[in-house]
Amino acid sequence: MAVVISVANQKGGVGKTTLTMNLGYGLADMGKKVLLVDIDPQFNLTFALIGMDVLKYTDDNVGTVMTRESEVESAIVPVRANIDLLPSHLNLSAREIEIINAYNRERRLEKALLPVLPDYDYVLIDNPPSMGIFLVNSLTASDYVIIPLELSYFGVIGMQLMFNLMRMIREETNENLKLLGLVPNKFTRQTKVPKMRLKELKEAYPDAPILTTIPKAIALEKAQSQGLSIFEFDGKSRASKAFSKLTREVVDIVEG
Ligand SMILES: Nc1ncnc2c1ncn2[C@@H]1O[C@H](COP(=O)(O)OP(=O)(O)OP(=O)(O)O)[C@@H](O)[C@H]1O
Ligand SMILES: [Mg+2]
Repeated sequence: MAVVISVANQKGGVGKTTLTMNLGYGLADMGKKVLLVDIDPQFNLTFALIGMDVLKYTDDNVGTVMTRESEVESAIVPVRANIDLLPSHLNLSAREIEIINAYNRERRLEKALLPVLPDYDYVLIDNPPSMGIFLVNSLTASDYVIIPLELSYFGVIGMQLMFNLMRMIREETNENLKLLGLVPNKFTRQTKVPKMRLKELKEAYPDAPILTTIPKAIALEKAQSQGLSIFEFDGKSRASKAFSKLTREVVDIVEG
């Protein structure tokens, strides 16, 4: 039975998609069966994984599954060994209103995923940078949340918004939602600021586990633009080592 993990932060550009993809590949390389779910109308993860094929799935994607126009089994696209994708689509944002007005709107994704959970070890959900119905669905369907963040002033204080939302989700739709941890991303030693913010982060949220820090690395951006994981792009890079470490850490927490 799969463990479901949301990769979430309402702030844009902090590394949600990068983390979802590389953690997914890391887990797959360890022999885990992984389903990646793209619930972001920007469909960055889908594009990174299947490119222009995204256009093929007009009637079979995460949105049509949530509106029950299609079945999850037929919407899942195999990507490579151990990795499948439930894709996003250009038309996902148009479905938002429909989902908001639907019965049981917070549980649409949870219900849709249920039949395929036995087929996977991990389901990773890449979320949009907003606090709308898609994120609520995702957190309602999840066992854990991983929050990538940048060690900037607003990046650190913005954590409060995520924690508030998680508290609301625990009260209303998913009392078992757990914080797997925070992942400081784009870390650089070129200035003292990130280190200082990391210290502030620990002081402000002493109960929040802080996982492996991911360095700022052009290789990650290049890999993403070529649709490759960091392991495929440059398996010896610092970023690759950091993602391997993060993968082991996640497995230890979840299975340990
Ligand atoms: N550690 C890193 N070092 C350098 N570049 C990075 C790093 N992590 C992510 N990036 C780059 O930063 C940009 C934003 O990353 P990404 O798309 O993963 O963020 P996101 O949180 O998913 O964004 P959005 O909120 O728009 O969905 C991308 O161009 C990505 O390649
Ligand atoms: Mg993204």
